Amino acid sequence: MSQPTTYAFFKGKFVPLEDANVNIMNNAFMYGTAVFEGIRGYWNERTEEMYLFRMREHFERMMDSMKIMYMEPRYSVDEFCRLTVELVKMNAPRVDTYIRPSAYKSGQKIGPSLENNPTDFYIFTVPFGDYFHGAGGLAVQISSWRRVEDNAIPARAKIVGAYANTALAKTDALMAGFDECIVLSENGHVSEGSAMNVFMVKRGVLITTPTTENILEGITRGTICEMAEAELGLKTVQRQIDRSELYTADEMFFCGTGAQIAPIISIDRRPVGTGQPGPISSKIKDLYIQVCRGDVPKYHHWLTPVYGKSEFSPSSSPKPETSPR
Ligand SMILES: Cc1ncc(COP(=O)(O)O)c(C=O)c1O
Repeated sequence: MSQPTTYAFFKGKFVPLEDANVNIMNNAFMYGTAVFEGIRGYWNERTEEMYLFRMREHFERMMDSMKIMYMEPRYSVDEFCRLTVELVKMNAPRVDTYIRPSAYKSGQKIGPSLENNPTDFYIFTVPFGDYFHGAGGLAVQISSWRRVEDNAIPARAKIVGAYANTALAKTDALMAGFDECIVLSENGHVSEGSAMNVFMVKRGVLITTPTTENILEGITRGTICEMAEAELGLKTVQRQIDRSELYTADEMFFCGTGAQIAPIISIDRRPVGTGQPGPISSKIKDLYIQVCRGDVPKYHHWLTPVYGKSEFSPSSSPKPETSPR
């Protein structure tokens, strides 16, 4: 039996994924002049529904990234959301799925200038399970690489070229036998993981780095700040974190669309807390997955059901007055 065709949205059309290709002279390929998002779709076996988690917020952030990179917003946030739902329906996955939309500079001139350089778009979907494998927690290294600064490549824009920095830091950590790394800003304060934000727990308070510390302003990070206070009664604080504070944290975890919630059990070979995933990290991890999979009605407004099997629709759910990222 032949495999069903997988489609991508590419240059304004839905086309078979194998036909969604760019020329090697494409500006984004030559110079990294593209921005992107990573969105997760959670398959719920019980409701036979696919829930896209906080899709709107992802496209709002992509609009911000595009603005920084002088990209014309050919589609509105609503149109991006509609195109994404349509694409997921066409590919019809019944497993957890990763959705990658991107806006990229598609001119073919030599030279990295962003002006007089057209913008094209793509969206593809791919089956995607856990980013980190194993339930035991992560061994993490402070990277010798520094996070790109706001005045070099702004981290709040999800710019493809900046991920060379990510790749260097992540690769060194893996080659040194760690699972992941934390990068510092040039000022020596903690920034974030290679592609995830970081939280530490100290005396029952959740602490994460501020948005001015060259981090991507994570949607998962905002989700945790909101839920931890509301559901677990935990105070959350955003402030600068020194490297050595990590060595004495009671608990630590990464968060991100890909990473989801990933407890950290050692940092620079020092155990974090007891050296096992901590109780607060574990609670947040469980709650987060339940919310993403549509099992917590209070947070249904964060989900877009794709196949129309659910008993709720996002527009009929009350929206909170503020939903920080
Ligand atoms: C550099 C970086 N930081 C943080 C995150 C986490 O952001 P979010 O929670 O919006 O996925 C990501 C992943 O998208 C990332 O690439």
